[in-house]
Amino acid sequence: MDEATGLVRGGDHGSFVDSDPLVGRIVVSAEEIGARVAELGAEISKDYSGRPPLLVGVLKGAFVFMADLARAITLPLELDFMAVSSYGAATKTSGVVRIVKDLDLDLTGRHVIVVEDIVDSGLTLAYLRKSLLARGPESLAICTLLQKSGQQRTDFDVDYVGFEIPPEFVIGYGLDVAEEYRNLPDLRVYLAGEPE
Ligand code: IMP
Ligand code: MG
Repeated sequence: MDEATGLVRGGDHGSFVDSDPLVGRIVVSAEEIGARVAELGAEISKDYSGRPPLLVGVLKGAFVFMADLARAITLPLELDFMAVSSYGAATKTSGVVRIVKDLDLDLTGRHVIVVEDIVDSGLTLAYLRKSLLARGPESLAICTLLQKSGQQRTDFDVDYVGFEIPPEFVIGYGLDVAEEYRNLPDLRVYLAGEPE
């Protein structure tokens, strides 16, 4: 990496982003993610012993994390997915989201763990949480890979956080910009900032 510019230069990872000027430094490496996901899996396995969880992954961003986390949990579990979409460009502030794909499974009496990629303002999660709580789960916890420090505008705690990161726009390990970069193994800074 070029220390002066933060740009990833060819050869670091042999990745397709090595010559992409919009892709900056590694924020969390694949190795660090792997180690932390193993810890989260162990923690959840301990906390949910005797009460098998139902993991609810929020598409699309959480798909990589969900796959790794599920395999790091040493309990029987079930999983399901839902997809949400923002209402236009105002969503960032309004937090009004639309459920694009709903769950297949019934949450009644289940120990639900919502698996998210990133909590920024937390407004998306606030909406999801309310909507899922209304379905009568026995318990509901939230596990996010990333939480941007100092950005939350919500009044509930996230139960499991992989990493606190600075408020920069990040890509990779499931996270995208306009559907690109989800397959990067590391989390990196997107230098053009937040897309409109
Ligand atoms: P929030 O409602 O402000 O917490 O943001 C919710 C959604 O915005 C996340 O679930 C992501 O899909 C997206 N998002 C926020 N920050 C980032 C980022 O740094 N990279 C990629 N997506 C992000
Ligand atoms: Mg998301």
